[in-house]
Amino acid sequence: MRSWQPTLDIEDFRLLREQFTDFMLGYKFAIDEITTKINILREDFNAAHEYNPIEHINSRLKAPESVLEKVRRKNYAMNLAGIRENVLDIAGVRVVCSFISDIPKIRDMIVGQEDITLLDERDYITNRKPNGYRSLHLIVSIPVFRSDRTDRIPVEIQIRTIAMDFWASLEHKIYYKYRGEVPPNLRSELTEAAEAAAALDEKMESLHRLVDHNGKPRETPADSLDLTALYLGFLGNSA
Ligand code: GTP
Ligand code: MG
Repeated sequence: MRSWQPTLDIEDFRLLREQFTDFMLGYKFAIDEITTKINILREDFNAAHEYNPIEHINSRLKAPESVLEKVRRKNYAMNLAGIRENVLDIAGVRVVCSFISDIPKIRDMIVGQEDITLLDERDYITNRKPNGYRSLHLIVSIPVFRSDRTDRIPVEIQIRTIAMDFWASLEHKIYYKYRGEVPPNLRSELTEAAEAAAALDEKMESLHRLVDHNGKPRETPADSLDLTALYLGFLGNSA
């Protein structure tokens, strides 16, 4: 065994693994909370506007070995504090919507919530990556109330259109197939496809604007709203 490798008996290893699993559980809870928030926004927005800006939501928890692999690769401190501070994509939530104009709406509805703190934002839509990648990335933190403590946990939220998502998942597959060494002809075809996806987003947006599904905003009823007539109506129906 090489000298820098710590020696660990089975019992120590088991304890370490248990503690790491407990640490990772906080990130799973943070995903649950963010997913619930976004599902609520989806349902409520639909009720208010009869229009749904959210197509679907995905989430993933980074595998423990991938977390530790990233710590080693990026030379972060190999301890919980090092991970907490530096690895901000352990909890990942992806929100896919129909139209480009939905993206800032969803962003504002998330970031505006009292218990959410925006830690970082990268707008790869205004500034697309050289390969053509587009998405809005937010790193937010959210309090997670554990049975014995409260932790603020970072979550990476990616917001993108269906066209952006379609492109990104194919690009990801190709990137992995070639282990990062994508041949130049395929690379330029991917860039072309990214341009076609962006053009489709523009076209769909302008069609969407013509139809304008947003309607008039919902009015918040006054607390003093008299419900007597409603009560009598229910009584009449059940009689
Ligand atoms: P990491 O250290 O890998 O997390 O990168 P980063 O901290 O520089 O963040 P970045 O915003 O570049 O990317 C974060 C995530 O966005 C990635 O894990 C992917 O899910 C997605 N992403 C970023 N760039 C690309 C891309 O070119 N293609 C695809 N398919 N996904 C991308
Ligand atoms: Mg990442």
